[in-house]
Amino acid sequence: MQALVLAGGEGTRLRPLTYTTPKAVMPLAGRPFLSFMLDWLHSHGVDDVVLSCGFLSGDVRRVLGDIYQGMRLRYVVEDEPLGTAGPVRLALDEGILAERLVITNGDVLTDLDLSAEVAWHEERGAGATLGLVEVDDTTSYGVVPTNADGLVERFIEKTSGPVPTNRINAGVYVVEREVIEGIPSGRAVSFEREVFPVLAGDSLYGYHAESPYWLDIGTPERYLEGTWDLLAGRVDSTLPARDETGSLVFEGAVVAGAHVGPQTVLGRSCWVGTDARVERSVLHDRVVVGADATVTESVLGERVRVGEGARIGPGAMIGAGATIGEGAKVAEGARVDPDEVVAGTAAAG
Ligand code: GDD
Ligand code: MG
Repeated sequence: MQALVLAGGEGTRLRPLTYTTPKAVMPLAGRPFLSFMLDWLHSHGVDDVVLSCGFLSGDVRRVLGDIYQGMRLRYVVEDEPLGTAGPVRLALDEGILAERLVITNGDVLTDLDLSAEVAWHEERGAGATLGLVEVDDTTSYGVVPTNADGLVERFIEKTSGPVPTNRINAGVYVVEREVIEGIPSGRAVSFEREVFPVLAGDSLYGYHAESPYWLDIGTPERYLEGTWDLLAGRVDSTLPARDETGSLVFEGAVVAGAHVGPQTVLGRSCWVGTDARVERSVLHDRVVVGADATVTESVLGERVRVGEGARIGPGAMIGAGATIGEGAKVAEGARVDPDEVVAGTAAAG
């Protein structure tokens, strides 16, 4: 079975981290995000994957390569962002698509039963089938009411108004080639705004998955939530064992005399000084945290340096290579750009 993964968005909501690393290969619990999705696709019999990239496409290819778990990986790179459906049309025009295709958003951590969705699609002879999950707050998703047989009645993308159901588009589709042939060529096209609303009421079905794990990791809050869920084993994965604080500390990290955890990820070759505290946070590779500093519920990109006694978070996001001076405070919810220098109390004099 063939799958196409949409991995070309700019990941604006995860800036500043996505200025230097595309969301698709952003480390999640120390692994490139897409490796979790590829493991899941593999477990449902996918053996051929097309990665649709635009923004920082070279990085995606460098990280994932051309073969993963025996699956063939190919890349289709667009010059200009083509939206969500435009890239699929581009792959069709490049002659590499099969008759039937699984299409997924590239930022979904899930164990949804894709095999059951494909079976559901086949039983109904659908043109396209959308995986649906239930969420409490539907405002940032596509809302998808169906009839009893699963026929999609309407597709309502991101509305803050009243909605008829809390079942939303999970970003996991099974699509027949004829539907892709109907997507206009050579311009940006949105599945959610142009394709699904037109197919609704006709050949578009929704497969409601019974309470799978499902999370779009594309915002800072959800990126941390996904990290904590992986650490706690709430979603299946092949991560190494966590320590007694529920944290993952990768090779080369030095943490003597520091308080690391709970629910923390230290990337490769991180260094955390004496009496520093790192709690419910994610440090990408080669981050240095000075003595007596505290990092709370925050994400630090690779090579960030935190001076002694600095205080970070909660909810802060620090871009790769930034320097936080001694005693500096990075406030709740603050963003620090890649390579930015935040002056410490020593520098302020
Ligand atoms: N190749 C390519 N080109 N990929 C793109 C582009 C583009 O121009 N724009 C976005 N993508 C990719 C993103 O990288 C992401 O993996 C996926 O398409 C969806 O884009 P998001 O920007 O993450 O959309 P969203 O989360 O706001 O909403 C979508 O996902 C929800 C579920 O998480 C919609 O599909 C909603 O209907 C859905 O409920
Ligand atoms: Mg998303």
